[in-house]
Amino acid sequence: MKRILIDCDPGHDDMMAIMLASSSNELELLGITTVAGNQTGEKTYQNALKTLTLIGRTDIPVARGADKPLFRELTGAPEIHGVSGLDGADLPEPGVQGVEQHAVDFLIQTIMESGTPLTLVPTGPLTNVALAMLKDPRITTKLERIVLMGGAVFDSNITPAAEFNIYVDPEAAKVVFGSGVPITMVGLDVTNKALFGFDDIEELSRLNGKVSRVVAPLLKFFAQANKDIFGFDGAPLHDALAIAHLIKPEVIKTRNMNVEIETEGALTRGRTVADVYGISNRTANTDVALEVNNSLFKELLFQAIEVLDTR
Ligand code: RIB
Ligand code: CA
Repeated sequence: MKRILIDCDPGHDDMMAIMLASSSNELELLGITTVAGNQTGEKTYQNALKTLTLIGRTDIPVARGADKPLFRELTGAPEIHGVSGLDGADLPEPGVQGVEQHAVDFLIQTIMESGTPLTLVPTGPLTNVALAMLKDPRITTKLERIVLMGGAVFDSNITPAAEFNIYVDPEAAKVVFGSGVPITMVGLDVTNKALFGFDDIEELSRLNGKVSRVVAPLLKFFAQANKDIFGFDGAPLHDALAIAHLIKPEVIKTRNMNVEIETEGALTRGRTVADVYGISNRTANTDVALEVNNSLFKELLFQAIEVLDTR
């Protein structure tokens, strides 16, 4: 069983990542830390607590983190996730408070006290992760791997050159990609292909269980927002694919290459510069996802919701 931590900015797809992780027998979700990104720090924190309340997992500790990037003002995504960060359905009020500790200290303590190396799964801007590495660099030798949703080789969303999580805090991403921790980058090249379609959402709605009857309208909101903005025929459940890879590694295919982060370009801020052909001779620091098995991904998602409906 792989022991993991999720650092996230819920967000509809972050919510699905939490659901996938907390319903899998392959994973032990030790804790969740939240960061400002899709919405403000307060809203992403509350959304993580609401998600755990909905699925009956208030035993999983949640620690709130950074309310803004290291050096920049926060860029949110209300056009995609709505004013609440989880628009589309009424979620239960949190049935639990988070831990007192700041997310950065929670990450450091959990990683350093673990008897076995942990896997860290960031699915939002990398502010908390960078701060933790800067505050206690020892964690970089204690982590087994970072499997992050972020970046892209050929795709983009927040600007023509960048993916949202990296764009929001490129300096933090530069710290993380330069940390020496093995990284798997689950980027838009695969997540924008792994759409959860409107027909899949209808199928989910027909389950009519205590979780599925809430998730279906949430995903319909998210899918419609992505259709309106990008013309997608469904919901790209970006963050959940990072978790799916930990459950069934074969859900994506990766290639090892150097990835560096652009922090200065006026047009290219936040670009993950992926050296696909090895031209730079820089160290290959990242396994980059380039192919996805969407039917396997959907199978894992439906399995997870069915488990949570009956728990
Ligand atoms: O670009 C997609 C990523 O940005 C996802 O993690 C989404 O939740 C937002 O954080
Ligand atoms: Ca996210």
